Amino acid sequence: MTELVETKLGLQAVRKAMPGTVAVVLTMGALHDGHRELMRAARAHADRLIVTIFVNPLQFGPNEDFDRYPRTLEKDLEVCAAEGADVVFAPSVDEMYPGGLPAVRVEAGRLGEIFEGASRPGHFTGVLTVVCKLLQLTRADLTFFGEKDFQQVALVRRMVRDLDLPVDVRVVPTVREPDGLARSSRNRYLSEAEREAALTLSRALRAGAAQATAEGALSTARKILEGGTGVRLDYLALTDPLLGPAPESGPARLLVAARVGRTRLIDNVPLDLEGP
Ligand code: PAF
Repeated sequence: MTELVETKLGLQAVRKAMPGTVAVVLTMGALHDGHRELMRAARAHADRLIVTIFVNPLQFGPNEDFDRYPRTLEKDLEVCAAEGADVVFAPSVDEMYPGGLPAVRVEAGRLGEIFEGASRPGHFTGVLTVVCKLLQLTRADLTFFGEKDFQQVALVRRMVRDLDLPVDVRVVPTVREPDGLARSSRNRYLSEAEREAALTLSRALRAGAAQATAEGALSTARKILEGGTGVRLDYLALTDPLLGPAPESGPARLLVAARVGRTRLIDNVPLDLEGP
């Protein structure tokens, strides 16, 4: 049975009683197959599973979708139960941030200022601050993140290393719809026409990843993105697997962010460059 816990004290009590290895999957709810995959991976590697559901105001900019972000707790609880979660921690904003947003935050540093961070100033400081709090509150041994949020994963790993947090971060590949669209809670904002346009992102990344050279990957993907109707490109970037400068050959990552209607979508794929 899945137990819903809404307070830090309640979480402390159930956590104390948990035997063995504990995994946590951190979410903002509106759960989809990508989250299910994280829960399955977590279940396979731990004796107990905690899922957190918290739409974190600290990581949304003033003109972003905090107010309209989907909140579907009843359905989410069913998903968590079906995936064998032992506890769902779903605190209110006041419970997480009593007395207002925190004065002391986890600064994301330079890696937090590029790509997503350049478009969404302060976003990663908000993410890392809440991730750090949730890891402290759950005292999980393992945590599972989806590769779709590639920069988020890199920053969480970096925080865990830099702050010596006692948790093992595991990464799960992006879950896609049969037509290639990366699963995201924000996909539910898309109209039918927008969903069709959104396919341009994964199509561009796939075509880019099939190229042998860095230049070929970028120019192929860019051409598809710029030719896609209803897609406003924010950035397209080729990096090494740690988000550093792109190599000429070997493992690399192709990342994209674009707006489709009012919805901002991100995606990324690995590639193996053969060189010029
Ligand atoms: O990826 C998300 O859903 C959020 O950024 C996270 C990690 C739950 C922090 O609010």
